[in-house]
Amino acid sequence: MRRCRLLWSIVGIFVVAGCGTDADPPDSIDAQLQALIRGHGIRALSAIPRPPLEQVILGQALFFDKELSGKRDISCATCHHPRFALGDGLSVSIGTGGHGLGPDRDLGDVGSFIPRNAPELFNRGDPLWITMFWDGRVSGSPEHGFRTPAGQRLPEGVPSVLAAQAMFPVTSRDEMRGHPGDRDVFGRPNELAEVADGDFVQIWTLLMRRLRAIPEYEELFAAAFPQVPASHWGFQHAATAIAAFEMELGNLVNSPWDRYLRGDFMALSPAAKRGALLFLGEGGCVRCHSGPLLTDQQFHVLAVPQIGPGKGAEAPADFGRGRETLRPEDRFAFRTPPLRNVVVTGPWMHDGAYTSLELAVRHHLDVLRAWQHYDISQVDSRLRATWRNDAREQGEMLANLDPLLRTPAPLSDGEIDDLLTFLEELTDPAVFSLARFVPVRVPSGLPVED
Ligand code: HEC
Ligand code: HEC
Repeated sequence: MRRCRLLWSIVGIFVVAGCGTDADPPDSIDAQLQALIRGHGIRALSAIPRPPLEQVILGQALFFDKELSGKRDISCATCHHPRFALGDGLSVSIGTGGHGLGPDRDLGDVGSFIPRNAPELFNRGDPLWITMFWDGRVSGSPEHGFRTPAGQRLPEGVPSVLAAQAMFPVTSRDEMRGHPGDRDVFGRPNELAEVADGDFVQIWTLLMRRLRAIPEYEELFAAAFPQVPASHWGFQHAATAIAAFEMELGNLVNSPWDRYLRGDFMALSPAAKRGALLFLGEGGCVRCHSGPLLTDQQFHVLAVPQIGPGKGAEAPADFGRGRETLRPEDRFAFRTPPLRNVVVTGPWMHDGAYTSLELAVRHHLDVLRAWQHYDISQVDSRLRATWRNDAREQGEMLANLDPLLRTPAPLSDGEIDDLLTFLEELTDPAVFSLARFVPVRVPSGLPVED
C-alpha cells in the first residue's frame, strides 16, 4: 500500500487505479471481475417496490384458482408451481385436460402437450422487463404502450408488461380455455370455450362474470381496487392482481452473485469467480445474457433440437420469433432466458430439449457437435417421437445461427465446470422455500394443488 501512495504522489491517479488496495490486489480475480462487471453495466437485482398487500392476496387466489380455466381443471400454478421453481419440471407443459402436477403430470384422455417450456417467473416485476414469452409476443411498458396479440382490444389501465401477459393464458384453448363442446369438472358446459378465437374481450367478460358470481371475490376485488367502482372491474384488474402476486412470489434478489455485486467479495467461491470471468469474458455468454437480468431480451437462433407439438400454422415446427416478425432470419429464434436460479429450472431451453444443465451449456459451445450427439432418450418418453431430426430444417437453423455465439468455443472441461459453478451461484436459497406461497384454499372452493 505504501508503494502505491508513493506512486500516487509522483504520477497520479492512473497508477493508483492499477494498484488497488490490500484487500483487492491489482491482479486479483476480484479486480478483474469488478472491471468486467462495470464495463458490462451489470449490477445486483434490487428489491422492487412492494405492490399493495390486498392486490397480492387477490392475485394469489386467482393464480391458484382453477375457476380461471374453461373446464375448471387447471390454474396458473399448475404450470408455474412453487414446488417446481415456478415451472412444471416438464420439457413442454401439459394443458387443460391433463391430471397431476410436475414431471408426473399425465395427459388424461384429452390433454395435450403445448408448444413450449414453462419459464420460471423470477424477478419479472423488475421494471427492466419489457418482453414476455419465448417469442416476445407481449412486450412494451406503461409509458410506451404494449404490443400484444389483442392489439387495440387490450383494455386501458394495464400497469406492467407482466400484467399484460396475465391477460393471455386464459385465452389459450390448449392451456386453459378448452374446446367447443367441453364440459367442466362438474359436467356443466364450458362457456369460455364457445367464444370465437380472437374475441378476447368476450372471454375476459365471461371470466369476470364467473369470478363475480363468487361473493368472496367481490370482497377481494373491492379491497384490492378501492378507487375503482365495481361497475368498472374488468379482467385487467384480475391481471394486475396476478402480476402483484407474481412480483411477490418471484422477488428473489439474494443469490451469492447478487451479494457479490453488492460488494460481499466472499460470497462467491474461487471456482465461481473463475466461472464468472469466463461468463463475462472468454466464454462470451454476456453478449446475450447481459445486464442485471442476464438477458438482452433479444431473440437468437441457437439451433436447439426441436421437440414438442410445434406452434401455429407451421406445426410441428416452431418458428419462435419468426412467427411474430415473419422474417425468415428470425425463424427458430427465441428470447435469451434470464439465468437466476437456473440450476433448479430444468428441463432447459424453449422446448426443454436438454434435461442436463451441462448439456444446455455445452450446446452453446459447440452447436454442431451437440446436434450430432443429441440424445433424445433424455426427454420424457411421451415426447421422443416429436423430435424433428430433419436435415433441411437443421440446415436452415445452422445457416441462421447467431453470430454472437462463439461456436466451437475453445473452453476446457475444467473451464466448463467453472462456468457451471458460476451458474449454481445464481441461486437464491429462498427458491427452496417457495411452498409458503401456496394457499390452503381458494374462493371457488376448487382443489388447490400443493
Ligand atoms: C398449461 C401450462 C400453463 C398455464 C396454465 C399457464 N402458463 Fe404461463 N407459461 C406457460 C408456457 C409454456 C409459457 C411460455 C409460452 C411461450 O413463450 O410461448 C408461459 C409463459 C408465461 C409467462 C412469461 C414469462 C416470460 O418471461 O416470458 C408468464 C409471466 C406466465 N406464463 C404467467 C402465467 C399466468 C399468470 C398464468 C395464469 C393466468 C399462466 N402463466 C398459466 C405455461 C403455462
Ligand atoms: C447468441 C446469444 C447467446 C449467447 C452468446 C449465450 N446464450 Fe445462453 N441462451 C441464449 C438463448 C437465445 C437461449 C434459449 C435458446 C432456445 O431455447 O432456443 C439460451 C439458453 C441458455 C440456457 C438455458 C436456460 C433456460 O432457462 O432454459 C443456459 C443455462 C445458458 N443459455 C447459458 C449460457 C452460457 C453459460 C453461455 C456462455 C457460454 C451462453 N448461454 C451464451 C442466448 C445466448
